[in-house]
Amino acid sequence: MTAQIDVVPRKRGSGVTLRRAMLGECERVYAYNAAADVRALSGKPTPILLGDHEMWFARRIADVSSPFWIIEDDGVPVGSVRIDARADMNARISIALDSSARGRGIGRRAIVLACADWRGIVVAEIHEGNAQSRACFTACGFVQMGKHDAFDVYQWSP
Ligand SMILES: CC(C)(COP(=O)(O)OP(=O)(O)OC[C@H]1O[C@@H](n2cnc3c(N)ncnc32)[C@H](O)[C@@H]1OP(=O)(O)O)[C@@H](O)C(=O)NCCC(=O)NCCS
Repeated sequence: MTAQIDVVPRKRGSGVTLRRAMLGECERVYAYNAAADVRALSGKPTPILLGDHEMWFARRIADVSSPFWIIEDDGVPVGSVRIDARADMNARISIALDSSARGRGIGRRAIVLACADWRGIVVAEIHEGNAQSRACFTACGFVQMGKHDAFDVYQWSP
């Protein structure tokens, strides 16, 4: 007789955690942000040079007013999410997952965790061709507030 094992389905995104990005993770974040498909969806398809990214990343993670996290799924890094504080404007969220990690509820969970940590109004600027991002931010409670050029502007309020 074979033993029966009950498998309880895992909730989507249940293994997702955020931790602060470290200086030594410059190339990891470059791989997420500079991927050709991410660049195309950002509306800026021009490649990012690694040297430019290194300077930006060092400056950016030194800015303690604007959190920058690595997204982990069951302890494995799969992407990054950051919130940029902006003078006289609402903070802006940006996220990029490795292509192998998309479509499994990880982005949704990471955005919810990031917004909960920030506790203020957060804006997402989503390229009009990025249906997956729009669906994900909408599922997180973001609401479209406007549009500029090719970008839909979405907002989340605590
Ligand atoms: C956009 C991104 C962060 C979304 O994260 P994700 O983990 O792939 O998305 P999720 O699996 O969490 O999906 C969230 C919701 O969006 C919806 N969704 C996901 N993929 C979709 C698709 N291709 N089409 C329509 N809806 C989709 C689902 O309804 C899902 O809701 P559910 O969790 O209730 O099922 C991720 O795909 C990514 O990093 N893409 C490349 C970079 C990028 O576009 N960044 C955003 C720039 S504004």
